[in-house]
Amino acid sequence: MSGRIPREFIDELLLRVDIVELIDSHVPLKKAGNSFKARCPFHTEKSPSFSVNRNKQFYHCFGCGAGGNAISFLMAFSHLDFLEAVEDLAGFAGIDVPRESINYHSIKRDYSALYSILEHVAIFYVEQLRHHPQSNKAIEYLKNRGLSGKIAKEFSLGYAPDDWDLLSSQFDPKLLVDAGMVVTKDNGRRYDRFRGRLVFPIRDKRNRIVGFGGRVLDDSLPKYLNSPETAVFSKGKELYGLYELLEKQSKPKRIVIVEGYMDVLALSQLGLLYSVAALGTATSKAHLDLLFRFTTELVFCFDGDSAGQNAAWKGVQESFSCLKDGRQIRIMMLPQGQDPDSLIRSEGLTVFEQRISNAQVLSDYFIETISHDLNLSTIEGRARLITQAKPHIEKIPSGFFREMMVNRLKELSASPTLDFLENRSMLNLENSSGAIQPNRAPDHALTTNTKTKISPARIVIALLLQNPHLFEIIEQLEFNWLDFYFPGQEVLLEVIGAIEKIKPGNAAILVEYFRGKDNEKIVNTLVNWDFFILENGVEEEFSGALDRLLEQINEQKLANLLAKERQTGLNLNEKEQLRNLLIKK
Ligand code: GTP
Ligand code: MN
Repeated sequence: MSGRIPREFIDELLLRVDIVELIDSHVPLKKAGNSFKARCPFHTEKSPSFSVNRNKQFYHCFGCGAGGNAISFLMAFSHLDFLEAVEDLAGFAGIDVPRESINYHSIKRDYSALYSILEHVAIFYVEQLRHHPQSNKAIEYLKNRGLSGKIAKEFSLGYAPDDWDLLSSQFDPKLLVDAGMVVTKDNGRRYDRFRGRLVFPIRDKRNRIVGFGGRVLDDSLPKYLNSPETAVFSKGKELYGLYELLEKQSKPKRIVIVEGYMDVLALSQLGLLYSVAALGTATSKAHLDLLFRFTTELVFCFDGDSAGQNAAWKGVQESFSCLKDGRQIRIMMLPQGQDPDSLIRSEGLTVFEQRISNAQVLSDYFIETISHDLNLSTIEGRARLITQAKPHIEKIPSGFFREMMVNRLKELSASPTLDFLENRSMLNLENSSGAIQPNRAPDHALTTNTKTKISPARIVIALLLQNPHLFEIIEQLEFNWLDFYFPGQEVLLEVIGAIEKIKPGNAAILVEYFRGKDNEKIVNTLVNWDFFILENGVEEEFSGALDRLLEQINEQKLANLLAKERQTGLNLNEKEQLRNLLIKK
């Protein structure tokens, strides 16, 4: 991360910005009682269940569960990462983002000159495609490949004329070198990287041109040329066609990953508007994480040859650590000798989309691939299967998908248990009830099981998160929260600690403190709980829940002491405690 943004600035920003105004500028809101409503931008719905609360400075969808503060909204709505969202929010508020420069080199350099020259070069190449005397070769080529002027325009396809010094005669040569558009030889000689090629500008998801791909117009080699890695271009992070895809659909149902520029263009030409291509590199984890910000299903669509199979297998391996529940990956192998471009042209959009729907799911593909040369009727074969699968499955985050994979493996290997892969946290989660238990249970218990009675601890934490000023009531209590374990203790103490430390002006600031921390998810769930309490009844409700929590803790303490008295007897201190507890009753 470049130049950390000071925490105080983020707090200040969240205090200055009004989330109602922010969201209203993206999704028009209507006032409804205490909050503002709209149809949820994060899922399809007929009646509005998306609600924005001005007091809490929070949004929440009762339909799909999306929710968060102003920063979270921009991250989700505009597909930004945290820093980008803070920058955009500061822009919305009209203030500059300060950065703590811990180290001179970590200060974010200003790359606007690079983006700007790349943009100008792209426009220049588009111009050349239209007007250069030799551009008819490129236009002919596009026609022969069945691409229309509309597609060429949409993807800003251009022509780099066959000339060694054209760009240098038009733009600042130093910037051209930094942008990767001009090659410098050891002897100092410089020349244009792309010559006599059809060029494909590559945009990042924020619509900045970061590099180019270029294809020859005949059979000469190399067939494709890409921009080198530069300060603004990293092949492992960018995907061709992503910006153009998101322009058309910001939340596509699925995204198809193909191998080539021409495949993306051909698919788009024939009406399949949701494909992207890795830029002549393997699909990286960064690619997959990026794509999963916009969709829940990815389809690898790779050539049927061995290179394509290898690429698919590499992509699948990268994908395991991104496979949170709710995300899906399919693998679509094309017939030998075909690529998406040739196939969709020969069989048409409908049949091609059927292929996508029928593509193999990741779990089947994985098991098939790792077991295809094993004989599972032998002990050795089954042992190999487990050994080979283990390192991959270990990468899958805890959840149902991982559990399902482990179960498949158990069946295939005929092993009743695979202890080393079992999903401990899931088991704990199922066993823990909301009731107070003397034993330590994970605080995840807080987010589960809304059907069981809501524990007072959950209510206390939720109300405190939603109304940080209630901390005054806790402060007045003389109660040692550390001295006895109860479910939720860790979260409650962290919330109390955060309030003491940052003195948040509203709920959004408090919740921001938990971003990226272990308890982020629980905090986000609880801050969105709606108790339907009237504004002026909050203190009363909170005090009530607090009393019930203390009572439960004391009862459990009492029960423990009485049990101990029967079993081993009590020491002086414990007797004193017991007496005090009995007096309170
Ligand atoms: P067409 O022949 O134009 O249909 O291209 P294709 O997309 O079918 O090409 P292919 O399957 O050969 O390559 C897929 C992708 O790999 C391309 O889009 C490029 O990104 C990359 N690629 C292919 N050939 C080369 C090459 O010679 N050099 C580099 N750097 N990349 C290549
Ligand atoms: Mn092709």
